[in-house]
Order: sequence, then C-alpha cells, then structure tokens
Amino acid sequence: MHSVFDCSIVDLPVVHRENGNISVLENNQNIPFDIKRIYYLYDVPYGSERGGHAHYELEQYIIAACGSFTFILNDGNNIREVFLNSPQKALHIKPGIWREIKDFSGGSICLVLASHQYSESDYMRNYEDYLKYVNNDSSIS
Ligand code: TYD
Repeated sequence: MHSVFDCSIVDLPVVHRENGNISVLENNQNIPFDIKRIYYLYDVPYGSERGGHAHYELEQYIIAACGSFTFILNDGNNIREVFLNSPQKALHIKPGIWREIKDFSGGSICLVLASHQYSESDYMRNYEDYLKYVNNDSSIS
C-alpha cells in the first residue's frame, strides 16, 4: 500500500527558446510507467471540486498545463495538499491514493497521463469502502 509520501513532484525537462518552451515525456525515457491514456480537465466552473476517488492500479502524472489547482492526497492515515501551477512539474500519484481536486483557477487545464486505459472497475468511489481497503478488510466487494 502506498502512502501520500510516495507521491512526488517531478521536474519535467524543458526546452527553452525565446519564442516559447516545450516539455516532453516519452515512454521508456522519463516516465516510470507506460502511458496508456491521456485526458485533461478543463472548463471547470468556479468553486467546483473534482476527484473523490482512489484507484486500485492506476498510476498518474498530473500536470497543470495551464493555470493552477490543488490536489488533496489521502492514504487513510495522512493527508497532503499539493498545489500545482507549473507546466514544468508533474505530480506522480501512485495507486491506492484517495484524491480530491479543488481551487481550479479560471481557464486552468489539468493534464493527466495515465498508466491504464479507462476502467470503472479500477475506481474506489466510496470513502468508507476505501478506508476498509487500506485497512486490509477483505469483507468489501
Ligand atoms: P472521474 O475520473 O470521476 O473525474 P474526476 O476525477 O476528474 O472528477 O470521471 C468523471 C466521468 O468521466 C466518469 O463518469 C467517467 C468518465 N471518464 C471516462 O469515461 N473516461 C476517462 O478516461 C475518465 C478519466 C473519465
């Protein structure tokens, strides 16, 4: 079982030019899992919150491609808030971490690189069941 302290902020490579920057992530080069899916959150209304779930297997790199937002990471024992506001950094979320996302700035884009294709069966969406899972309760379905 991973803790919130196993999640890390990764500095992404940056190709600086006077006319703009490029950051690149490539499988087998500088990301510790194979990227199977890319998705992004955008047009998040002011004051909205997202997340409210954990994953059994999924690992993610989260990048504030534009603007800023805050991830609240929770492993059932520890809570950690991570503010993301740079396209030059990624938050690496390990499997089994409950997350909530808040304080989206206007026009922000939350880019997610994911280790698996979408599967609803990989989600834990009930916090009480999540706590049973992290406490190794085998009675949950
Ligand atoms: P969810 O992962 O719960 O969003 P967030 O963590 O940003 O609050 O997904 C919201 C909805 O979108 C849910 O009904 C499933 C759907 N969805 C897909 O169909 N494919 C995907 O790759 C993702 C991430 C979500």
